[in-house]
Amino acid sequence: MYLINGTEVSKNNFNSPIENLSFWRGDGIFEAIRIHEGFLFALDRHLKRLERSAHKMLFNDIDFYSIKKDLQKVASNFTQGYVRVIISRSETFENYDVFIFHQKPVEIPDYYSLETQLSPWHPGGDFSLEDNQIIGTKSTSYALNVTQTRLAEQNGFTDALLLNRNNIILEGPTFSVGWIKGDKVFIPDLNLGILDSITRQYINLFGTNNLLKVQESRVTVDEIYEMDTVFVISTAKHGKFVNKINEKTYEPSPLLEVIQECFKNEIKAEKLSNS
Ligand SMILES: Cc1ncc(COP(=O)(O)O)c(C=O)c1O
Repeated sequence: MYLINGTEVSKNNFNSPIENLSFWRGDGIFEAIRIHEGFLFALDRHLKRLERSAHKMLFNDIDFYSIKKDLQKVASNFTQGYVRVIISRSETFENYDVFIFHQKPVEIPDYYSLETQLSPWHPGGDFSLEDNQIIGTKSTSYALNVTQTRLAEQNGFTDALLLNRNNIILEGPTFSVGWIKGDKVFIPDLNLGILDSITRQYINLFGTNNLLKVQESRVTVDEIYEMDTVFVISTAKHGKFVNKINEKTYEPSPLLEVIQECFKNEIKAEKLSNS
């Protein structure tokens, strides 16, 4: 099912002119929300982040209520996968279109390896969140992110792990990262300019609810080699074990299963409270 500005169109008509700023400037914002047995997990958190991105990227007068209804309408036709919403700038700054569509579930490889790469385009902690209002926007300008993924793939890795100029671990091109040492779970802090990932928000929530011991932290590549376990988190991955970073291999900590269980229970609880 394909919607443009709330109207259903065929796949052939689900397109956008090349003259649009979203195409040649990457001038747009987006969200991807996962469908779990017909339920859109964390929908309100995704909408809140979309609102924040809209504010940061100067998109005005967006009808978020209609977007929510349209996301639910598309999702109601599927049990698995994702719904994606893209707010896409038209030929002029003042105009935009809202595209909503379903995406099939993505395959996640069993063996997951990361190659660390410096990411000179990333704010990487050079600015604080208060100083700079555009940091953390979920914009459609992802060319540099996907290039870092491809460079890692060329070198035989599943994906890249982005570093700032001081070799501090930031995030992946399309995911957040966390690590475990003993009985503690660590996640990088948002002042590193990383995306305010929804799954990262849940790790914090599990900490607040005393289901896990969670702490924000900054570590270098050398320091992450000393951790027991590393995992990636995103809408598509609720705690995926990382087998290897560069040449360092890891073993899964039992805590990772606790994290995965926390997500399963949270999805069940939210689904129940929405029914
Ligand atoms: C750069 C980046 N960081 C982190 C994430 C994870 O965010 P979320 O948990 O909201 O999917 C994503 C997801 O697309 C991302 O693109």
